[in-house]
Amino acid sequence: PPSDDTLLALPKAELHLHIEGTLEPDLAFELAGRNGVELPYASVEELAAQYDFSDLQSFLDLYYATMAVLRTEDDFAELTRRYLRTAAAQGVRHAELFFDPQAHVARGVPIEAVIDGIGGALAEAERDLGVSGGLILCFLRDQPVESADAVLTAALTRPERLLGVGLDSAEVGYPPELFAGVFARAKDAGLHAVAHAGEEGPPSYIVQALDLLGVERVDHGIRAAEDPELMARLAADGIPLTVCPLSNVRLRTVPDLSAHPLLRLDAAGVRVTVNSDDPAYFGGYVGDNYLAIRDALGVTAEQAERFARTSIDASFAPTARKAELQ
Ligand code: ADE
Ligand code: ZN
Repeated sequence: PPSDDTLLALPKAELHLHIEGTLEPDLAFELAGRNGVELPYASVEELAAQYDFSDLQSFLDLYYATMAVLRTEDDFAELTRRYLRTAAAQGVRHAELFFDPQAHVARGVPIEAVIDGIGGALAEAERDLGVSGGLILCFLRDQPVESADAVLTAALTRPERLLGVGLDSAEVGYPPELFAGVFARAKDAGLHAVAHAGEEGPPSYIVQALDLLGVERVDHGIRAAEDPELMARLAADGIPLTVCPLSNVRLRTVPDLSAHPLLRLDAAGVRVTVNSDDPAYFGGYVGDNYLAIRDALGVTAEQAERFARTSIDASFAPTARKAELQ
């Protein structure tokens, strides 16, 4: 089996990472103190002890509550700086960061502070760490589509580091079709499109994301493994999946890692990438996900190299940058 060092050193792109999901308990307490925000936990340890989830919603409740400590441009910059440093140490050379502006604007944080904070840290990382990247604005699918429309309009005033749009938050009951209009508008503005689909939701949501949103990658997408016809379509069309193994275990979308469909998807010819989702909450960054699938699924060096190569290839980096990274 490939060594830890081999897996961590593989040059990778991280394509499924919620920047708010990199908020570690110690930074949450530091920012809470600095901003005068009260967390309902007495200590870092007590907060960390809450990270035991029964499903996606139980995680989202804690995720939205804890991000209340993020208030200023500098908070978002510090969060992003810390993530990029850790990711770079695990082989990440390009990172496309999801962010949830509706969750910040609703708390009175200006979208400019969010975008400039994350974007500023990305610019620094490009210079200091050799990590390239950009932002993917995620619409909250459990909020009204009017709110998604408003946040897209606001974000388009700061298009510099905006690569695309995505769709996240509670999945079941909020099918992709609800967001066809706002995705069409984002694509008309020249943005790429991705969406979470088939994490907890059925394979039909993956089909909707492809047919009605025109997504170029599917985030999670693991429930495609239940539908051979859909796997064949993903393979034939070369649609990459951004798979997050540790997340799927922690949110109990798979019973345990040894039952994860990653290798079945790969064997069906689907383009698989490995990512961390919300690493502060799910027990590991992207490199840790590679180590975990080696240990639980017997992923070989050749398979791991293919996943890492696919991540760079499936990224929205310019062609010249991709060539440099391969
Ligand atoms: N927001 C942050 N992490 C998420 C996930 N895994 N699924 C849906 N929405 C999310
Ligand atoms: Zn996600």
